Amino acid sequence: MRKVLLIILLCLVTLAFSFSIGYSKEIHIAVIGKSVHPYWAEVELGVKKAAQDLGIKATFFVPQKEDIPAQLAQIESFIAMGVDGIAVAPSDPTAIAPAIEKAMAKGIPVITLDTDAPQSKRLVYIGTDNYSAGKTAGEVMAQLLGIRGGKVAIGTGSLTAMNSLERMKGFMDGIAKNKRIVVVTKPALCDFEDTGRAVTLAEQELLTYPDLKGFFGVYAINGPAAAKAIKSAGKTGQVLVVCFDTTPEHMQYIKEGAIAATVGQRPYMMGYKSVEVLYKMATNGVDATLKDLPSNRIIDTGVDVVVADPYAKAIKGIPVNNVEQYRKKLLDLGIPVEGW
Ligand code: BGC
Repeated sequence: MRKVLLIILLCLVTLAFSFSIGYSKEIHIAVIGKSVHPYWAEVELGVKKAAQDLGIKATFFVPQKEDIPAQLAQIESFIAMGVDGIAVAPSDPTAIAPAIEKAMAKGIPVITLDTDAPQSKRLVYIGTDNYSAGKTAGEVMAQLLGIRGGKVAIGTGSLTAMNSLERMKGFMDGIAKNKRIVVVTKPALCDFEDTGRAVTLAEQELLTYPDLKGFFGVYAINGPAAAKAIKSAGKTGQVLVVCFDTTPEHMQYIKEGAIAATVGQRPYMMGYKSVEVLYKMATNGVDATLKDLPSNRIIDTGVDVVVADPYAKAIKGIPVNNVEQYRKKLLDLGIPVEGW
């Protein structure tokens, strides 16, 4: 009789255990980017890889182009779904703050990636140090244009996102030493992350300033858009493009010399680390996770400057890579290289 009771008890325990496993909620992390673009496809790759490594679910969303209401609506819908953590790249840090606060109040940890909202209740920022990277871009432009200086245009995808504003501020400080550089776009040309519009704006600028010497592309969209416009105007080499990011299109233009230099961010790492940090928060708790992170709550994913061969010698005092050195660096960092 005792034996039978023991067996029944064992069966019940096993049943309860398998029930608890079967019904334990799968961790679900949500990531919200800024636009449909190969740059964001790299972020998504990192997001998906982290989810696979951790055995959890991750959902990635981007609006078609810069769209602040769409980002807000997506946060609301992730809150309603009861996700375990949200990483967002706010196109407008002020507009996003109440939505971040709402998620946090419901116990959903929120972090920012790619572009920050430091005045909000976000817990951590993961991405580039945009002021310093913008300053590097400015210093590169100043050196490339040399003592003759010249007119420079700036094209961006946002006039509200912090990464755009910080890069432009850094760029202005970076070129400041070269008194002969005149920035002709005040405010910067803005395409709201619409690729077609970015090309049109660059084309118009070339017509307005036939003596333009440089173009600073703030977002991933802008460098290739400027290179395209410059190429079709037959002005490659006359107007130098310094920009951000290293999508396959950028790398092709670098190889051709139509982009002189670019500041490569690490979007794959931004995606990977965002999921990793939110997973830790969901499993170990927010405080325990924060304890292991830098006290300023910023994870700087780093940048690399990539230069087209003809321009490498003109740059002094800034570490630069050619295409092959850059490829090696990415692979050493465990970042997949695809399409170039
Ligand atoms: C920026 C992103 C932007 C992307 C595409 C990148 O340089 O960091 O914020 O969405 O370009 O325009």
